[in-house]
Amino acid sequence: MSAFTAVDVIRTKRDRGVLTDGQIDWVVDAYTKGLVADEQMSALAMAILLNGMTAPEIARWTAAMIASGERLDLSGVSRPTVDKHSTGGVGDKITLPLTPLVAACGGAVPQLSGRGLGHTGGTLDKLESIPGWRAALSNDEFLAQLRDVGAVICAAGSGLAPADRKLYALRDVTGTVEAIPLIASSIMSKKIAEGTGALVLDVKVGSGAFMKSVADARELARTMVELGGAHGVRTVALLTDMSTPLGRAVGNAVEVTESVEVLAGGGPADVVELTLALAREMLAAAGLPDADPAAALADGRAMDTWRAMVRAQGGDPDAPLATANEVEVVLADTDGYVAEVDAYAIGVSAWRLGAGRARKEDPVSAAAGVVLHKRPGDPVRVGEPLFELRADHAQRIPAALAEASRAVRVSATPPQVAPLVIERIG
Ligand code: URA
Repeated sequence: MSAFTAVDVIRTKRDRGVLTDGQIDWVVDAYTKGLVADEQMSALAMAILLNGMTAPEIARWTAAMIASGERLDLSGVSRPTVDKHSTGGVGDKITLPLTPLVAACGGAVPQLSGRGLGHTGGTLDKLESIPGWRAALSNDEFLAQLRDVGAVICAAGSGLAPADRKLYALRDVTGTVEAIPLIASSIMSKKIAEGTGALVLDVKVGSGAFMKSVADARELARTMVELGGAHGVRTVALLTDMSTPLGRAVGNAVEVTESVEVLAGGGPADVVELTLALAREMLAAAGLPDADPAAALADGRAMDTWRAMVRAQGGDPDAPLATANEVEVVLADTDGYVAEVDAYAIGVSAWRLGAGRARKEDPVSAAAGVVLHKRPGDPVRVGEPLFELRADHAQRIPAALAEASRAVRVSATPPQVAPLVIERIG
């Protein structure tokens, strides 16, 4: 007989109490094993969302989630390991150019990524638009590629933090995703279990992000930076703007194309700026402060590493990517300046076009997505293209068009464009 019961643990948090280490260890372990029912864990997650957790509770909860599965050992990799995690946004393809860029500068990047759900895209869905590319690697394949290429982007194996896998799926359907203790422990348990030596967090703020306010994003970032430090992972965070999509492309193949443009030394200014800012943080955290990521982009080293990384996972970096059967170009009906392109509405539009999924098991379209011809601050004349929608089927267009049209606002005077990097914590 256990000394604990789920109902007692739920009552403690419901009544704003502090959970003991024993209660936390027990409830996380028992839930992973199926001894605590989904409805009980839902009630506990809601109590945590409403009443919060202390820093020691979050640390213990994170440790219990790590202990629910395996921990990778990256000590056989000769280069310093450093990873990046974004809390998720619209058009956020930064992992694609950043991973090979940091590897080209001497780091080893063990990037375990996820798929998109709802309005935010998933890195694996984007890469799967490259013909032949394979997301699932065994632990041995993962380690060999990390040693040989220095860059891996693949699916997290089922052995890593299984408690989080189960709890995250439950939170998704019970309105309990937006709890800072649960987001912080979810992200950090996976990153710590993955074995990286250093970690840079890109905490998004704005309409397209989980965190709508800088104050909430700051609290989440501080919580995660502390958790990383407590587990021996050098962790820093950048708070970055997600009120507008990153770059011009939102979707799967379109984001791969834009990432390759960045690796070729071009691409949208904001994508280049954030890629370089995160690369500098990662290299400093990895103990490589003298590496010059801008030079590695300019001289083709990052592109060479991208090609090697894609090939190592069965992909053909030269293969043409899927194109859409239906393209709808929307023109400006007034002169002025683009004042706003709302990230959330563009994310929903891309999702309606087929780029994202409503349920975990849904397929995604490689070709679907939104391409912005104008970004906030750009001048625009009547009749110029504002954005285009791409889909496999025409019936996807009307609902996506309604969302995207809501997202874009043109004003008579130039807007103030917010800075991309808002704050650094670490
Ligand atoms: N990403 C995660 O991995 N977990 C969360 O809880 C939220 C975003």
